[in-house]
Amino acid sequence: MKSDLPKITRNPAETQELGNRFSENLSAGDVVFIIGELGAGKTVFVKGIAAGLGIRENITSPSFNLVKTYQGRCTLNHYDFYRLNPGDDLSELNVEALQDDDSICVIEWGERFAILHTTPRWEVRIKYSDSDIERLIEIERIAG
Ligand SMILES: Nc1ncnc2c1ncn2[C@@H]1O[C@H](COP(=O)(O)OP(=O)(O)OP(=O)(O)O)[C@@H](O)[C@H]1O
Ligand SMILES: [Mg+2]
Repeated sequence: MKSDLPKITRNPAETQELGNRFSENLSAGDVVFIIGELGAGKTVFVKGIAAGLGIRENITSPSFNLVKTYQGRCTLNHYDFYRLNPGDDLSELNVEALQDDDSICVIEWGERFAILHTTPRWEVRIKYSDSDIERLIEIERIAG
C-alpha cells in the first residue's frame, strides 16, 4: 500500500476496521500522522490500528501525558498533541521515540509541528463527508 484511493466509511465501526487493515502495513520504526478536525475520527482509527497490532487494552486519548504506550506484536506509541501550540518547546517530549526503530508512533495533531515531519512517514487524512456519520479517508505514504 503506497497510497490508496480515498475510502468512504459510513460509521465508526468501518473507520476502525480500516485502521485495523491499515495496520498490516506497519512495522517498528514507522511514523503515522492521523490528520483531521476535532471529532473527525482520528482516535477511532487508532483503536483499529491497535486492534490490528493485537493490543487488547482500550485506547483512550493520551490528553495530559501526550503519549500512551501499548504492547502488541510491536510497541505502539499513541501521541495526541492537541494541547500543544506550534511555538511550544518540545524538548521535554520523548521525540526521539519517533526516530527509533523499536516502536510504531501514531500521532494526532502532529502535522502542526515541523520538527515532527520526519520522512518516510504515513499520513492518514480523515475528512467529514456529506452525512454526519460519513468520513472520507485518504492514506498516503510520504517517501524520504
Ligand atoms: N464514519 C465515522 N468514523 C469515525 N467516527 C465517526 C464516524 N461517524 C461518526 N463518528 C463519531 O465521531 C467521533 C470521532 O471521535 P474521535 O475521538 O475518534 O475523534 P478525533 O478525531 O480523535 O477527535 P479529537 O480531535 O478530539 O481527538 C466519535 O464519537 C464517533 O462515534
Ligand atoms: Mg482523538
